[in-house]
Formats: sequence, structure tokens, C-alpha cells
Amino acid sequence: MRSNRFVYIRTFGCQQNEADSETILGICETRGFLPTEQMEEADLILFNTCAVREHAELKALSTTGQLKHLKEKNPALKIGLCGCMVQQEHRKEDVKNKYPYVDFCFGTNMMPRLGEILDEVLSSSKRRFYIEDYKENPGAICEGLPVERKFSYKAYVSIMYGCNNFCTYCIVPYVRGRERSREPEKIVNEVEKLIRSGCKEITLLGQNVNSYGKDLPSPLSFAELLDRICQIQGDYVVKFMTSHPKDATLALFDVMAKYPQMERHFHLPIQSGSDVILKKMNRHYTAKDFFALCDALRERMPEIAITTDIIVGFPGETEEDFRQTLAAMEQCRFDGVFSFIYSPRKGTPAAELPGRLPEEVLKDRMARLLELQQKIATENNEKLIGKTLRALCEGESKTDAAFLSARTDSGKLIHFPKPEGEDLTGQYVQIKIREARAIMLIGEKQK
Ligand code: SAH
Ligand code: SF4
Ligand code: F3S
Repeated sequence: MRSNRFVYIRTFGCQQNEADSETILGICETRGFLPTEQMEEADLILFNTCAVREHAELKALSTTGQLKHLKEKNPALKIGLCGCMVQQEHRKEDVKNKYPYVDFCFGTNMMPRLGEILDEVLSSSKRRFYIEDYKENPGAICEGLPVERKFSYKAYVSIMYGCNNFCTYCIVPYVRGRERSREPEKIVNEVEKLIRSGCKEITLLGQNVNSYGKDLPSPLSFAELLDRICQIQGDYVVKFMTSHPKDATLALFDVMAKYPQMERHFHLPIQSGSDVILKKMNRHYTAKDFFALCDALRERMPEIAITTDIIVGFPGETEEDFRQTLAAMEQCRFDGVFSFIYSPRKGTPAAELPGRLPEEVLKDRMARLLELQQKIATENNEKLIGKTLRALCEGESKTDAAFLSARTDSGKLIHFPKPEGEDLTGQYVQIKIREARAIMLIGEKQK
């Protein structure tokens, strides 16, 4: 095999895709590829795509369009698309018909076979499409595959794959298959190894971590899994993503409160504050149920930061429904809101619903939501001024090289002046907060 072949991998979408890309790179390395950041020098280009909103798909497709000239310059270049977008039949057809310079696609269930797939693709010029749909196939569990992690001090660990919830707007269950949990021993071993190797931050991943373990031969709850993980000795923080409110239990909150190494942050997507819309979304909770969860969290951990996701303009959302979302924001006083304009996804029930809203209504609602959130988050952060917080340094700030960025145990971003001649990346620092903005804090490192 020729040495020094290079692979360029670009990841769109969520942390699950980021984690998958680390496995994809690990498998590419077993085939003699080294990673490169330069698309021009790559022998293999892979785009790991997302389908959650139209914008994500259009971005992946337009970036793919830019590869045409690279392929013309270097016909030996192999181009592959993978992940959630190409897992959809209609997108696979689009790629087949409109992107002839894409050599191969593989779906989200192909990871265990990726080594063989690469062998086939690299040894012939035939175009290939390796996609298995999830209608009959529950999906694989990735175990024992090589992983090339991007960072040494923080790591993603998938604890389960797929989603069974079928929220009516969401494409994920169709492109990621049914819920399947990894064995707890395997997870605990992986986390233990990471912590032994000096990793400081572990993020457990699943589309709905709260339903972890229900499918195991001897069922175990997510709270019990966390309890086992937190037995590991060391200086580290455990985070997790994402929780569905319908399955969030007080037992989970109790375990978090019991262990100081559990992050003081909970991402709990509310999606809407209107019970009518929540019902149409198939979310299985009311706004009141959601408020009770926030109260229970803050009762146990007063310092906890709560963040959420909100969809604006679900089909049929009235002004009154939207006001209830704003009211829910006032009630829960979220530390962060990820807000999205509803995007119809082909094949989901909501895409068939009447009551799509005009562009100007969507824009107006989004602007009102952002304005309110800016106010609430700034007020929350101002309460931290004068406090000294522990945070994990993540290196130079993306916006100002004179500053370093760090994250607190509650997930808040802090910028602080870079000390001369000290590389603090991957280390815990104590920072005294001087200034508060809506999405970040500014402070000074304490000795
Ligand atoms: N499993 C996670 C993540 C799902 S995708 C969860 O349940 O929270 C992340 C967010 O994208 C969702 O919480 C939702 O707010 C948003 N989202 C999903 N589908 C969408 C769509 N069709 N249009 C707009 N936003 C969407
Ligand atoms: Fe999508 Fe709902 Fe599953 Fe989250 S829980 S991935 S929003 S279907
Ligand atoms: Fe996107 Fe797939 Fe994640 S659709 S949000 S990359 S699970």
C-alpha cells in the first residue's frame, strides 16, 4: 500500500456526527490514510452530512458542488458522502443523478462495514451506494471500532444509537433507526480508559439519553449508568446530550446532585410552550410538566444552568401559542436557547400538516424570541459577576487571539486574557468574573 495517502473529513450536524467522524477517521487510518485539513492535498474526501433542517442539507449539497473542480484536476480523487442526509432515499437519488463526481455514499448504519466499503471503493472505479433503510433493520451498535479522537482532554462517548420518539417534525428516527443501547460495562470501560489517559471532560451521547438501557437484556436506567460511571476516581466532568423531558426522572436529578463531577448543566428541549403545539409535535408532556422538571433540577442544584431548544413556526402555531412559548421562557429563565424556524422534512407527519406560516411572521417571532432570550441570559449571567468559577480551558478564543476560552462546569463560555508564556489548554483554571454578556462571561484568571 502506498504511504502518505490523505483523507479530508468535513462534519455537518450534531455531536453524534462529530463522534461518528472520529470513528470514520479511525477506520480510514487502518487503510493507511492520514488526516489532512487541506482539501487540495486529499486522496479521499468525505462529507458527513446532516438532514435535521433544510439549511443543513443545502449547505452539504452546495459544499459538495465545490468538489467538482477538484475531481476534474485530480481524477484519482475519491469523494464520498455519508451520514443522515444521504440516508434518505430521495437524497441518495439526488446524489446519484446530479453529483456524478461523488464516487460513493454510505448510510448511518454502515460503520461496522466501513473498512470493507473503503477497500471496495478504492479498488474500483464503479460508483457505489451503501445505504440500508431502517424500516426492517433496527440498526447496528458500534463496538470495538477504531476511534481517532480530535482532542485529548475532552471526548464524546456514544452510549446509544437511534431514536424511537418520532416527534412529528423530526427526521432523526428515519435516518438513525431504532434505539439501541451499548452494554454498560463497555461504556464504563471506555470512560475509565479515557480518564486514565488524562481526559478531563466526557460527553455521553444519545438522541434521548433518558431512555438509555430500556432495550438491554438486563435493563439499566440512565441514572444507574451515571452512578456507575461516577464511581471512577479522578479529576473530570461528565456531560450528556440530549434529554427528552418525557423521560427525565427525579432519580436522574438525584444522581447528578450526588456527584460533584456531574456537569451543572441540563439541556432540556422544550420545543414550544403551547400544550396544543406540544401535542401536535407528539412530545408527551405539557408546559406545566416541563416547569416542574426545571423546578426539581434547581431545587437539587441551585447553581445549575438550564438550556433548551425551541422551534418557531410549527404548522398552525398561532400568536397565542407563540406567546405561551415566550411565557415559558420567562418562567424557566433559560441560560441558553437554541431556536430554529420550523423546516418541513420529507416523510415526517408534520410536513403534511396545514398552517404553514408566512416568512414575515416567522421572522417577527424569531426576532421577539431572540430579544427576550438576550435579556434573560444577560440577567442570569450578571448574577455571576464577582464570583470565581472553575472552568476547563479550551485554547485561544475564536474571536480574539489575546484571550483564551474556557467552559465552566455549567457549560458557560468564559473569555479571559491570555497569560504570557503559559499554555493552559486542557487544564482547569479558576476565573473571577468581571463582565457578563448574553452568551459569554469575561473574567480574569486567579493565581
Ligand atoms: N434528539 C435531540 C436532538 C434533535 S435535533 C432532541 O430530541 O433534543 C436538535 C433540535 O433541532 C431539536 O431539539 C429541535 O429543536 C430542532 N429540530 C428538529 N427537527 C426540526 C425541524 N424539522 N425544523 C426545525 N427544527 C428542528
Ligand atoms: Fe427527533 Fe424527537 Fe428523537 Fe429528538 S427525541 S431526535 S427531536 S424524534
Ligand atoms: Fe443532523 Fe443526523 Fe445529528 S440529522 S442533527 S447529524 S442525528
